[in-house]
Amino acid sequence: MKKIAVFVSGRGSNLQAVYNVSKNPESNYRIEYVVADKECLAINFAKENQIQTLLVSKEKKTNYVTFQNLIEIFSNKVDLIVLAGFLKKIPEEFVHKFKNKIINIHPALLPLFGGKGMYGMKVHSAVFESGVKISGATVHFVNEEFDKGPIICQKAVDISNCNSSEEIALKVLEIEHEILPVAIKKILENELVIEKNRTKFL
Ligand code: GAR
Repeated sequence: MKKIAVFVSGRGSNLQAVYNVSKNPESNYRIEYVVADKECLAINFAKENQIQTLLVSKEKKTNYVTFQNLIEIFSNKVDLIVLAGFLKKIPEEFVHKFKNKIINIHPALLPLFGGKGMYGMKVHSAVFESGVKISGATVHFVNEEFDKGPIICQKAVDISNCNSSEEIALKVLEIEHEILPVAIKKILENELVIEKNRTKFL
């Protein structure tokens, strides 16, 4: 059984989707840790479901671990790190340590509507204002730059009938919950190859 750590910052609906799939008898992974940058609903969900939780901060703070501590805690204990609505930038040293072992879900079709400051409803507002007819979700590897690592999978949704960014968010969230657990499963089955910036499922 592979072990994953899920990083969160808020509501935790993607965490719940990943958790629900992990409870299927055919699942090849379980959630070993949930890590957050602050107390939040997602941390409550983890505690209610007996998952180990950690709070992380770049600076040393009471009740928080640092990313350096996480490197030690995770060593040989975690096969994949999943950013599911984690809104803080991951330090470079941590990214290098877990090269091609950190993935992120982004609520738009990258490389559009990504980058610094583009998260949550900001993304959906930008999508709505741009007038595009299609949006979607992207799972990608995390590298040193915001939303720039190799794309693992994407799914699009027709938003031509949406009348607000909130409506877009709901449609996209449904897709996020669908593709994130699939990406996790395939990566952990070693069914993904990375060739420069392109990835391919075997
Ligand atoms: C999700 O829509 C996720 O894609 C987004 O934050 C939301 C978290 O919701 N992440 C980003 O925007 C990262 N750039 P959740 O806590 O209910 O999973």
